[in-house]
Formats: sequence, C-alpha cells, structure tokens
Amino acid sequence: MKNPLNLNFGFIGHSYLITGGTGSLGKGIVQRLTQANSTVRIVVFSRGEEKQQQMAQEYPQSVYPNVHFVIGDICNLDSLQIACKYYDVDIIIHAAAMKHVDVCERNPSECLRVNIDGTLNVVKAAKQVGVKRIVGISTDKATAPSSAYGYSKGMAEKILLQSNGNGLLVSAIRYGNVFGSSGSVIPRFLKDKGKGELGITDINMSRFSITLDEAVDVVIFTAKNALGGEVLIPKLPSYRITDVATAVGPQCRQKR
Ligand SMILES: NC(=O)c1ccc[n+]([C@@H]2O[C@H](COP(=O)([O-])OP(=O)(O)OC[C@H]3O[C@@H](n4cnc5c(N)ncnc54)[C@H](OP(=O)(O)O)[C@@H]3O)[C@@H](O)[C@H]2O)c1
Repeated sequence: MKNPLNLNFGFIGHSYLITGGTGSLGKGIVQRLTQANSTVRIVVFSRGEEKQQQMAQEYPQSVYPNVHFVIGDICNLDSLQIACKYYDVDIIIHAAAMKHVDVCERNPSECLRVNIDGTLNVVKAAKQVGVKRIVGISTDKATAPSSAYGYSKGMAEKILLQSNGNGLLVSAIRYGNVFGSSGSVIPRFLKDKGKGELGITDINMSRFSITLDEAVDVVIFTAKNALGGEVLIPKLPSYRITDVATAVGPQCRQKR
C-alpha cells in the first residue's frame, strides 16, 4: 500500500496524542505503543484527574519518560491546541466520546457537544497546529443510526472525513463492540450473574464483536498505513446476546 507518511518503519520520532487515553481502548493503545517503541512520545488526554493519576502510576516517569498525562476536554479547543503544540503532536488518535447508548439518549445535547463539537475541535486543533494525521474511532452504530449515539458518531465521522486533505490525513475506524470494554454487556452480565437473573433488552439482538487486542491492531495499522479519507471496517464475527447470557450465566433466568 502507498504510504505517504512513510510510517511503516515504526513510530520513532513521532508524537501521539490520544484523546480518551484513559479509556478501555486508549489504555490498550498506550500499552501497545510503549511495548512497540519506547521512544515514541505519547500524550494521554482526558478530563478525569483520578483516572489519569491511576494510569500514571502504571507508567512512572522514571521508566516511561515519553508518556505524558494532560488534563483536557475535547469540548475546549484551547486545551487541545495547547497540548498539541506543547508536545509537537503529529498523530491524534481520537477515542474520546460519550459511548453509552442510553446515556446519550437521555442527554442528547451533551452527546452532541462531546461527540460532534468535540470532534470538530480535534480537527480544528490539528489544522492549526500542523498535525499530520488523525485516526478517529467510530462505531458500527454510526451506520443507518437509530440512536442519539449512532447519529452523533455518524456526524463525527463525516466531520473527520471532510477534513482530510491539505497535508492532514484523516481516517475513521468503525468497530463493533469491544469485548469486555467498560460499560459493555459482558461486565454487566458478570456483575448481575450472582442475582440469578440477566436482563435482555431484545432476544433477537446480535452484536459484532472485536477483542481489545484486535481493536488496537486496527488503530496501529491505520496510523501506519491509511491513505486518508477512508473508513476502515474490520470484518468481525457476530454473536447472539442470548448465547452470551447463557455462556456467562448458564443457570440464570434471562429476563426480557
Ligand atoms: N467500547 C466499545 O465497545 C466501542 C465500540 C465501538 C466504538 N467505540 C468507540 O471507541 C472509543 C473509545 O471507547 P472506550 O470503550 O475506550 O470508551 P471509555 O472506556 O468510556 O473511554 C472514554 C475516554 O474518553 C474520555 N473522555 C470522555 N469525554 C471526554 C471529553 N469531553 N474530553 C476528553 N476526554 C473525554 C474519558 O475520560 P474522562 O471521562 O476522564 O474524560 C475516557 O478516557 C469511543 O469513541 C467509542 O465511541 C467503542
């Protein structure tokens, strides 16, 4: 594949800013980048002090001088610009989002602010600071959306792809459900298992599934190889929600 940024030879000399770097996917990306190359600069960008402090303990400065933790909000353009400029960022992995379907449904305006306006800010900051590449994390729910979350991620995708060009390469990745990620169905079933009852919203529901490792693989592949302007969709197996419930709690009643 043509590789305009010549990134195929590793990450040496590059500076990554990961919005949502303390989240399930963000942590996986940081772990992989630090394992793959100890010299690449990694900026973990998110709002929550507590989550950053906990993660910072896993990456002490004495061992990981290249990993930096920055408190910031994608809804605040200044905080993105300052971080990108200060750390001379050339690649943004944009993973920060409101991702719980029901929470987005109850808070559509906040969902719009974070997922759509926040993405617009990421693009604006990237352009102002001269970032070379953005990899945006999207979802299969952005396709023919039926929820505030799906609509917001669909709009975010469009904003990302439209910003591709003039020296900025922008790609989006559409995932299915990341197996076992925070707030997903597996941890919920595991938690509820003890009650002898697992709640199922719709027995016909099936989900495309990807492991965290596979999700990180696609991010790294995209950061190295994507040409810009494309949506990458990994081919994923799907499972029925009732099968997962049976596997997690074979003795449990499935409450519909
Ligand atoms: N998990 C899945 O199954 C799945 C499937 C498809 C697509 N995705 C997409 O993958 C991405 C990552 O998901 P995830 O599972 O890693 O989510 P997560 O575990 O909920 O992490 C979200 C991260 O974003 C940060 N964040 C949220 N709002 C922010 C804001 N306004 N400014 C800065 N940081 C903010 C959070 O930290 P603070 O709250 O401390 O700021 C956290 O670090 C999301 O874009 C999601 O839509 C996830």
